[in-house]
Amino acid sequence: MKNVLLDALRICEFLPENMRELLTEIFILDCVDSTNDEAGRALIRAAQKFSAVSGHVYFAEMQTQGRGRNGRQWISPHGCNLYFSLVQGFSQPISQLAGLSLVVGLAVSSVLAELGICDAQLKWPNDVLVGQKKIAGILIETTGDLANSFCAVIGVGLNIAMSREEGVSINQSWISMEEILGYSAFIDRNRVAACLLSRILADLQRLSQFGFVDFQAQWNALDVFFGQPVELRWADQFIEGIAKGVRSDGAFCLQIGSEVKYFLGGDVSLRAKAID
Ligand code: BTN
Repeated sequence: MKNVLLDALRICEFLPENMRELLTEIFILDCVDSTNDEAGRALIRAAQKFSAVSGHVYFAEMQTQGRGRNGRQWISPHGCNLYFSLVQGFSQPISQLAGLSLVVGLAVSSVLAELGICDAQLKWPNDVLVGQKKIAGILIETTGDLANSFCAVIGVGLNIAMSREEGVSINQSWISMEEILGYSAFIDRNRVAACLLSRILADLQRLSQFGFVDFQAQWNALDVFFGQPVELRWADQFIEGIAKGVRSDGAFCLQIGSEVKYFLGGDVSLRAKAID
């Protein structure tokens, strides 16, 4: 079932009062290259004055050059999924916000549970999966002085009602909310958008106050690979080991023999080790 179009007023109506104050502007674009790029352009126009754009969120019905992590494409057909970028300024060093992208993934999985999808899992650093198939992805880009105050563009893509034909060029297994909840279910994208924004904003406040340690156990409980053999791609190496969840700073823990090694974001990706 195709959804109604996104509507800033409706999104606002679904937001709790205290969250409305944190969102300074909601922009809905019909078509854009990438909502992260749109947010980036707004930051440039504001001459990096983060306070002028912090709390702005850019939604698009479709993206022509949706971007994923590690230079991948994010397929973004019209009117069926959610693609948005939230601009958030922080007046503390990024080192105090370690685990930022993991927290956003966790927020998405919590919203899915609220909406009836209770079996979402996380793949480090921030893929959201259901039944080992990807349902959402997160791309966070930062600008500013990371040692003092900086701004993050938090891009989220969530598959809601994309058809198999629309997603045919996606080269990994994926799933949509509609496939899980049933094709006759009405999924109000405006409501889903509001739930995501309010949960992300609340969790960012919690992160900034208490740090990632406050989320660590919850993240590890949803780790799709916990205790399993995995292969980690780091620079041009493939490193095999047993996944041991995340440390209190969000670093991925990989047991190699009797030793545990820790990996922080950057150009690292993870996959289940093929069983010969
Ligand atoms: C990934 O899993 O590789 C990250 C995907 C992030 C996609 C979202 S859609 C909204 C925002 N705009 C983009 O171009 N990318 C992010």
